[in-house]
Amino acid sequence: MELKEALLKRRSCRKYTDELVSDEDMNELMHAAMSGPSAMNKRPWDFFGIQDQEVLKKVVKCLLFANYGAKAAIVVVGDVGRALPLQMKEFWVQDCAAATENILLRATDLGLGSVWCGVYPQKKPIAKIQEVLGLKEKQVPFCVILLGHPKDDPEPRDQYEEKRVHIIK
Ligand SMILES: Cc1cc2nc3c(=O)[nH]c(=O)nc-3n(C[C@H](O)[C@H](O)[C@H](O)COP(=O)(O)O)c2cc1C
Repeated sequence: MELKEALLKRRSCRKYTDELVSDEDMNELMHAAMSGPSAMNKRPWDFFGIQDQEVLKKVVKCLLFANYGAKAAIVVVGDVGRALPLQMKEFWVQDCAAATENILLRATDLGLGSVWCGVYPQKKPIAKIQEVLGLKEKQVPFCVILLGHPKDDPEPRDQYEEKRVHIIK
């Protein structure tokens, strides 16, 4: 799939079939995640692939809007213990966002459905997911990407708005 096609085709998927996500696909998604840019290439992240259905249920329960019958998830985690110092400390958030978008686009490319469920900076879901996954305090869940085989095939959508573009030349 061409990148432009994947950009328009990627939509949040909230209905999944019963088919599981293969190990191969999970592996592809992890590679996509770590291909993303990272401030000073620090890469202060960890990715938890959840294929165990019981653990997945527990993760979904930590979130308000995530009960969509997905069959797998990747929890994107920022490790603030490995983050850059001083004013650059918060760059871990942008690193994790870039990795997340890479995963979503590669999932689209593989024919998988996905939806980005926000966690950081909400304190309660952060604490709950840390408990479910047995994370250290410095490991901050950034988001949960739900995954599976989509039930629907929505039309590609272009949300371009000319009034939001400001060219200075
Ligand atoms: C930071 C962030 C948090 C989000 N959290 C949720 C969520 O908790 N549950 C959900 O169903 N969708 C969530 N979404 C998906 C958005 O609702 C979705 O991207 C938006 O409505 C645009 O639709 P599209 O993804 O189909 O283009 C989140 C997206 C972002 C970027």
